[in-house]
Amino acid sequence: MSRPKVIVTRRWHPDVEAVLSERYDTVLNVDDHPMSVAELQDALRSADAVLPTVSDKVNAEVLSATNIRAKILGSNGVGFNHIDLDAAKAAGLTVTNTPEVLTDCTADLAMTLLLTVARRVGEGERHLRSGEWTGWRPTHMMGTSVTGKTLGLIGMGRIARAVAARAAHGFNMKIIFHDPFPPKAEDIADLNATQCASPEEVFAQADFVSLHCPGGKETYHLISTAAFAAMKPGAFLINSARGDVIDEAALVIALKNGEIAGAGLDVFEKEPAVSADLLTMENVVLLPHLGSATMETRKAMGMRVVENIDAFFAGETPRDKLV
Ligand code: DGY
Repeated sequence: MSRPKVIVTRRWHPDVEAVLSERYDTVLNVDDHPMSVAELQDALRSADAVLPTVSDKVNAEVLSATNIRAKILGSNGVGFNHIDLDAAKAAGLTVTNTPEVLTDCTADLAMTLLLTVARRVGEGERHLRSGEWTGWRPTHMMGTSVTGKTLGLIGMGRIARAVAARAAHGFNMKIIFHDPFPPKAEDIADLNATQCASPEEVFAQADFVSLHCPGGKETYHLISTAAFAAMKPGAFLINSARGDVIDEAALVIALKNGEIAGAGLDVFEKEPAVSADLLTMENVVLLPHLGSATMETRKAMGMRVVENIDAFFAGETPRDKLV
């Protein structure tokens, strides 16, 4: 029996590519270039499974391709706002993602951003490497303490709870959160977390606001001018979720006007483009979407995709089926 044909849109962890090549008639993206609309459409027309990543925009235009042969999109990532789920469903595609396996890794990165921006780590390293450091002095590069401060979480899903656990148990932080779909009491029992009725309630109290909501229509520009005005002047904003949750132009103005103290960002509104103003600001930490970027996690994510498509081609319902 011929093996299903699988197209992988970017390079993946080598162990995962090896497993895919063993089990399927697999086409790899050898030079790792981002695929165009036409290439994604060709992939949908010529393969049984297409395995995109969170940077492939599998939107209504891509999915309007005629004669689609693919039956499953096994996406490599937990977020799925890059895929038009309605259009995928209408095109007869099953769509899966990779939850759970990247929770700790992404939570570690959110804490890294928080600590880096509060303690001026990026700025300090640039200062030292530039040869400008003249030695210890009591007023040199004073940052902001983290231990004991209030962390406000927007969204309280798995990654937010993992961040809260690190912050509460490692840094004795007070945890407050808002989520329109709050977790069960037992899932947050050991966090001593206080639920807020609105994002504004979080903004008013938090020393650090960390975003953990999905991207897309519902949360587009949730953090804009009004949110910055509601935050404490000394607050820091951390985003390891999705770039379009923040109105980046409003963030630049808020930082310039000192409405907030700084920001730690792993994701951007027009990724991979970053607002030019942010690039010049010392009180901003900028990372290139590294939330899940460890060898262990990227392998686990890829293997979760393999598990999903294996189940699909075995005639079972994949564990992470979205539609
Ligand atoms: C995801 O999985 O959604 C991340 O943004 C990439 O790790």
